[in-house]
Amino acid sequence: MATMLAVMMAIVVVTGITSALHPSSNVEVVEATTLHLRGEFVESNLGTAIEPDGLATVRIIAEQYDFVPRCVRVPADTPVKFRLTSADVVHGFLLPDTNVNTMVVPGFVAEVRTRFDAPGEYAMPCHEFCSLGHQAMWGHVSVQPKDQFAKLTPVKRTSCVPE
Ligand code: CUA
Repeated sequence: MATMLAVMMAIVVVTGITSALHPSSNVEVVEATTLHLRGEFVESNLGTAIEPDGLATVRIIAEQYDFVPRCVRVPADTPVKFRLTSADVVHGFLLPDTNVNTMVVPGFVAEVRTRFDAPGEYAMPCHEFCSLGHQAMWGHVSVQPKDQFAKLTPVKRTSCVPE
């Protein structure tokens, strides 16, 4: 009995250390202290980009207590890839009634892929307690008709926050 328990405990510990100690989406590191200075998450690169293959990539920074940008526009009936990271503590990223649900951990990039069949509005709450202002950390995803994104050039980023 003791041997069985020891073996099972060893399996749990070894697999935990070798296979599971990372964020739930993917293992991609980023320097959290210089997000605003260089790299993928500089302010001018946040929001929605339309890739050459038509896929929409949305880049968002989660920070106490807001998402930047707070409101993102994405096209309907298009593959959408969300890429997020945190500037400070662990946040959550959830779009109710979709497959989008991940933690946003500082130092890592969280990536989630989805598709919205029709135009509509989605609440984007932080669902990981991130300190005293957590309950006020809400964003918004606005899914808009696909033809509204046809003219977005490769270097252009868009969001529904007034520019
Ligand atoms: Cu951010 Cu809770």
